[in-house]
Amino acid sequence: MHAIVVYRSKTGCARRYAGWIAEELGADLYEASRCGIERIAQYDAVVYGGGLYAAGINGVKLITNNLDRLRGKKVAVFATGASPPHEEAIRDVTEKNFTNEQLESLCFFYLRGGFDYKKLGAPDRFLMSLLRLRLKAKKRPTADERGLLAAYDHPVDFVKRQNIAPLVEYIKSQDTTSL
Ligand SMILES: Cc1cc2nc3c(=O)[nH]c(=O)nc-3n(C[C@H](O)[C@H](O)[C@H](O)COP(=O)(O)O)c2cc1C
Repeated sequence: MHAIVVYRSKTGCARRYAGWIAEELGADLYEASRCGIERIAQYDAVVYGGGLYAAGINGVKLITNNLDRLRGKKVAVFATGASPPHEEAIRDVTEKNFTNEQLESLCFFYLRGGFDYKKLGAPDRFLMSLLRLRLKAKKRPTADERGLLAAYDHPVDFVKRQNIAPLVEYIKSQDTTSL
């Protein structure tokens, strides 16, 4: 199987997952700005990953706008976010990023990332400062919101190599080239 892993990452979470996935699959690894759909379409299996920003998967349109070019290939998309992997949150992300038709051509995975305020660029810091003010003003923040507030002062990192197992399994399944 000829596989490619493409990622877009602001603070390194998607980059670390992408590197491990590429290692496990023996795949070629590219940062998204260095890889267009022409190259991606040359592979049998495609993995795309990006961080979650306001529930949108960073750069995922590279895949969703080009699914017709990837017909017949195995396609997996992963998102990495600071939120715990609650079913409801994952459903929201799935609905925001993919149509039902697109979900017939790709498989989506959520791999928990982390949060490091200091690694963010100015625009994201600004957005997150606004969110912090909003969360601080809440009378009863949820446990997840309290966790996020604490992470502004102490970075959190939930990136673990073992989280990639289901995605790797999915790409490897029915891979007839290794039979
Ligand atoms: C402006 C902004 C919005 C974010 N929105 C979300 C979100 O909607 N859901 C989530 O789980 N994490 C959210 N995060 C946290 C990032 O998704 C998380 O830090 C991720 O692991 C970053 O991945 P990357 O370093 O590969 O870009 C947000 C972070 C920033 C700065």
